[in-house]
Amino acid sequence: MALTKMKHLNLNLKKNERIGVDYIKGILQPTPTCDIWDEIWNFQAKPDDLLISTYPKAGTTWTQEIVDMIQNDGNIEKCKRAPTHLRFAFIEGKLPSLSSGVEQANAMPSPRKLKTHLPIQLLPPSFLEKGCKIIYVARNVKDNLVSYYHFQKMNAALPDPGTWEEYFEDFLNGKVCWGSWYDHVKGWWEAKDKYPILYLFYEDMKENPKHEIQKIMEFMGKNLDEDALDKIIYHTSFDIMKKNPMANYTTIPGEIMDHSVSLFMRKGTVGDWKNYFTVAQNERFNEIYKEKMADTTLPFSIDD
Ligand code: A3P
Repeated sequence: MALTKMKHLNLNLKKNERIGVDYIKGILQPTPTCDIWDEIWNFQAKPDDLLISTYPKAGTTWTQEIVDMIQNDGNIEKCKRAPTHLRFAFIEGKLPSLSSGVEQANAMPSPRKLKTHLPIQLLPPSFLEKGCKIIYVARNVKDNLVSYYHFQKMNAALPDPGTWEEYFEDFLNGKVCWGSWYDHVKGWWEAKDKYPILYLFYEDMKENPKHEIQKIMEFMGKNLDEDALDKIIYHTSFDIMKKNPMANYTTIPGEIMDHSVSLFMRKGTVGDWKNYFTVAQNERFNEIYKEKMADTTLPFSIDD
């Protein structure tokens, strides 16, 4: 597929216009996704599908690159065959001028690599029924919020986030696409005890990429040598991915993702929230966090 350039991709939006949103069972979604919800819900997974699931901006693209590198035995050239969004079908993804993620997945050879941001209750049931392997990645809520705010600023396929203060409130109230961060990470955390789900943390991947990549490798049933592992660690590091057009979303036209507003590969760090949260916002956020996370064993540290 000569799909490295996506000039034909066009949302038919006027300048500064954004794609609309609507609710699916109480969760905000871009309207093109709502329009084909039945098709998404009835998606037929296959037992050897591998699904990467995340709340948006938790490290999806990073994990996708790691998984593709593992599947291709550390072969960098093979992983540069196409941009991330063509190597992985985004199950609920739909843009007006493109085929849906479901259509893309249906046309893919097996074993398929798929991606979703759906909360567990909206996941098409066949994934769990067929026992598909799923890798879930969670990220510290404060950095996740900051990253999502910047992403919405640069991405016309999502609503304009408004001011930082407005977005802070919307995020706390779960009034963002894919819903409440709290419900998302907790729902998938509970599901991991019943289904083949590898639950990872962005912060662990930053601290010890080798260890987390080995976990993913074992989960995928692969056994690569040290040489291949070293290549994967290097090729999937932030600085290298940032320069890789097949992994940094620069193949998407600027009318959709405007990298001059904010880069997709923005900072890739832990603790960037400290540059955005005021002291008052942080105190209030911590109170709400305590309440919302009182009923889970999820081991997050929110002060780092
Ligand atoms: P920041 O906005 O904090 O920089 P997603 O792929 O789920 O949309 O997540 C994007 C976030 O992951 C961005 O965070 C991006 O910079 C970060 N990211 C992408 N690749 C990374 C890598 N190899 N190492 C660390 N962070 C990475």
